[in-house]
Amino acid sequence: VNTFGDKFRISLFGSSHGNLVGVFIEGLPPGIEIDVGQINLELSRRAPGQSKVTTDRKEIDNLIVETGLFNGKSSGEPFVAFVRNKDVDSSYYDEIKSTPRPGHADYPAFIKYKGSNDYRGGGQFSGRMTIGLVIAGSIAKQILSRIGVNIQAYTLEIGGIRADPILEYINSSFIYSTENIVRVANPESINLLVSEIEQAKEKGDSVGGIVQCEVQNLPVGVGEPIFDSIESRISHIVFSIPATKGVEFGSGFSAAKMHGSEHNDEYYFENNKIKTKTNNAGGILGGLSNGMPVVFRVAVKPTSSISKTQDTVNLEQLADSKLNVRGRHDPCIVPRVIPVLENATAIVILDLILMGNFLSDVI
Ligand SMILES: Cc1cc2nc3c(=O)[nH]c(=O)nc-3n(C[C@H](O)[C@H](O)[C@H](O)COP(=O)(O)O)c2cc1C
Repeated sequence: VNTFGDKFRISLFGSSHGNLVGVFIEGLPPGIEIDVGQINLELSRRAPGQSKVTTDRKEIDNLIVETGLFNGKSSGEPFVAFVRNKDVDSSYYDEIKSTPRPGHADYPAFIKYKGSNDYRGGGQFSGRMTIGLVIAGSIAKQILSRIGVNIQAYTLEIGGIRADPILEYINSSFIYSTENIVRVANPESINLLVSEIEQAKEKGDSVGGIVQCEVQNLPVGVGEPIFDSIESRISHIVFSIPATKGVEFGSGFSAAKMHGSEHNDEYYFENNKIKTKTNNAGGILGGLSNGMPVVFRVAVKPTSSISKTQDTVNLEQLADSKLNVRGRHDPCIVPRVIPVLENATAIVILDLILMGNFLSDVI
């Protein structure tokens, strides 16, 4: 099922080399001003072909809103929007239709769909499917920003090289500035990370990395125990983003090595507000927001489509085979995951906010 969410429900449709990709949204409260320019901006942040560290596939993803918008406001109908696929070169995919790419979804999809899946560009397993997440998420982001909730993701690591964030660069336009093609929150790390990607690319290889995401100013108590805890919902959507392999909240796996006295976040008052001195919980206790920033990290694997020769099998001849993937691919997916993750997170947070009735006084 391609549907996600409870109150703010999204269904994705389309495929990488088909006519279009988009989203069908139900549960968008009526009468909400929606800035289509803002949706296009988020789409352009996700788009390929922006720099030497992303794929050459150049697509200007122009949004078409089919229904759900009237005089600039949500009309109460389902909101249906999509972009057309234009810069599509499917010729190469005929070659690999029976030699599955190691690391991609080609082989399990071939078996599951009995060979009738649209394999061109990875079909529904393509990174292009995240366009629907970005459209829906950018609407969610707009609504959340009206209640002061802000979501920012940035690169923490590429190819094992760390770019520790500097506070002043988080929540700043620097993450998306044209010189910062790796989307770090630390200007001194840009060149190091770029050259890591370039070196891999020169060798016909790819690299992965870690993205950190923060949700600021979330009211206390957002999240629904037990199955719709913030962690469960965020993890669910994170693993719907292709190429993600892990997620950890707050201190994450390192919590296993700490004592309770170290890990507990002690409370104190600051300007009549309750805060914690540390944020090992990543802003979540019992699945509910505790008023501190929600902080989590996502592991992104190295792109599977690489031009280095690899072993594979031929599914028609039932024999071992070799493959070096051609076509246009991201040598590192991390910079493109940043806008996708922010917008996917916004979908979850808006849904939980609607489930907990936190918007009723505002809209
Ligand atoms: C924005 C984005 C762009 C991507 N671009 C590529 C790409 O160019 N080449 C590729 O092999 N995989 C790319 N992927 C990842 C694949 O879609 C993904 O690895 C594949 O569907 C298998 O799914 P899995 O890695 O989650 O198991 C991209 C993912 C995202 C989110």
